Amino acid sequence: MKTKTFLALALTAAISVAAGTASADSKKGAKLFKKKCGVCHSMDAGKHKVGPSLAGIIGRKAGSTSFKKYKALKGANFKWTEDKLDGWITNPKEFIGKPTAMTAKIKKAADRDNIIDFLKDQ
Ligand code: HEC
Repeated sequence: MKTKTFLALALTAAISVAAGTASADSKKGAKLFKKKCGVCHSMDAGKHKVGPSLAGIIGRKAGSTSFKKYKALKGANFKWTEDKLDGWITNPKEFIGKPTAMTAKIKKAADRDNIIDFLKDQ
């Protein structure tokens, strides 16, 4: 019984690892978002938390919402693309070259891909 459970778990883990490397997955991204970003960000337009709402973030001008506490992104002059988001969530401070209250750093490229996939679907 225990061995069977273990094998089933191992198989599930192996399958999810394989799926993770194959392509970005917005369902996984949704979970990661909840865990790593949701404390500070809402996906509802105009609803700001510690950070600005991320509704329609792809193609949106950086620092352009009604959020009052932009720091590093205040007056930014670029639009969010998948590449830029990847750089930002890898290391916000390094990406923007200024101190910021956004402290999240996502080390694994596959995790970043999944999060960005989720953001694209919103
Ligand atoms: C500790 C709170 C916190 C966490 C956790 C956090 N952020 Fe942020 N985020 C912020 C703050 C604060 C800003 C505004 C940054 C500034 O202007 O310095 C921001 C800005 C952003 C922006 C730019 C928004 C705009 O209007 O230009 C994006 C995109 C973003 N965060 C994505 C994410 C993602 C994706 C995650 C999860 C991987 C995440 N953030 C986790 C606090 C957080």
